Amino acid sequence: MAVGSEEFKKALQLWASGVAVVTSHSDKFGVRGMTVTAFSSVSAEPQQILVCLNQSADTGEGIDENQRFAVNILNANQQDVSNNFSGGSSQEERFANTAWHPGNTGVPILNESLMSMECKVIEKVRAGTHWIIIGEVQEASCRSGEPLLYFRSNYRELADRLSDLPSSAD
Ligand SMILES: Cc1cc2nc3c(=O)[nH]c(=O)nc-3n(C[C@H](O)[C@H](O)[C@H](O)COP(=O)(O)O)c2cc1C
Repeated sequence: MAVGSEEFKKALQLWASGVAVVTSHSDKFGVRGMTVTAFSSVSAEPQQILVCLNQSADTGEGIDENQRFAVNILNANQQDVSNNFSGGSSQEERFANTAWHPGNTGVPILNESLMSMECKVIEKVRAGTHWIIIGEVQEASCRSGEPLLYFRSNYRELADRLSDLPSSAD
């Protein structure tokens, strides 16, 4: 017997994750973006990642249109960016409220994000209410900072600052 929907949601709240904004650009739809926690590394060779997007979300249309997207991993100071891209405002407002620039492949890169990956769509799979979109990573840029975390429906930060941890050379 399948687990109930409330039980399912409650169980998944115990999965701690980072927070990302998935963006797209197309001539037809302009710039689009949405907050996600459903992001995962898939394969190191070839370099592939995946995101899961609700089929009703605007951003998926933009991805379909030009087969490219970016994943912008948010830093600990970007709760407002996560909220901005998670509904309530138009796509125009979302991008007017956030500093961004077009990446080398044309997709929107959020200037202050901790890391951005520009991807080309490799495969799109329908699963329940969502699309699983697998992308090949074409560009990656990393910036300094700490990650924004999400756990039990709340934003969190790392307890240990990176500067407090032993370096990998130790
Ligand atoms: C912390 C957080 C994580 C989210 N994760 C996802 C996700 O992984 N996939 C998804 O489809 N929506 C997720 N959402 C909801 C979308 O951000 C939201 O429905 C979307 O921005 C609506 O955009 P639209 O106006 O383009 O439809 C998340 C929202 C928040 C606040």
